[in-house]
Amino acid sequence: MIYITRKEHFNAAHKLFNPAWSEEQNNATFGKCANKNWHGHNYDLYVTVKGAVNPDTGFVVNLKDLSTVIKTDVTEILDHKNLNMDVKGMPVMPSTENVAIFIWNILNPKVKEMGAVLHRIKLYETDSNYVEYFG
Ligand code: NI
Repeated sequence: MIYITRKEHFNAAHKLFNPAWSEEQNNATFGKCANKNWHGHNYDLYVTVKGAVNPDTGFVVNLKDLSTVIKTDVTEILDHKNLNMDVKGMPVMPSTENVAIFIWNILNPKVKEMGAVLHRIKLYETDSNYVEYFG
């Protein structure tokens, strides 16, 4: 078993705001991310897949094909979008955790079709904060 990773990038806006809570509670919990008029992040996405090395190619999967799938099915849907308003199927709270799970659910069947197994979604929201999801 060997693991390979493709890095992609997208920018998106969001806010984290629980409408069931007071403004004070939202601000205390989410800080700047609760800003009513949105804010943006530069997301770095690392998609790791695992599998056996194909003896004909020396690859687990062709990273060019994996990049195309990520771009078509993930970054085209998320890039320059408002994650709260523009993205069908996104959970109400578009936290890094929920965005990572959203991306996993899209890519998991696509990676299977490529003959490999999705191992990890690693999503950086800032240089300091990232989430890892293993399904
Ligand atoms: Ni934020």
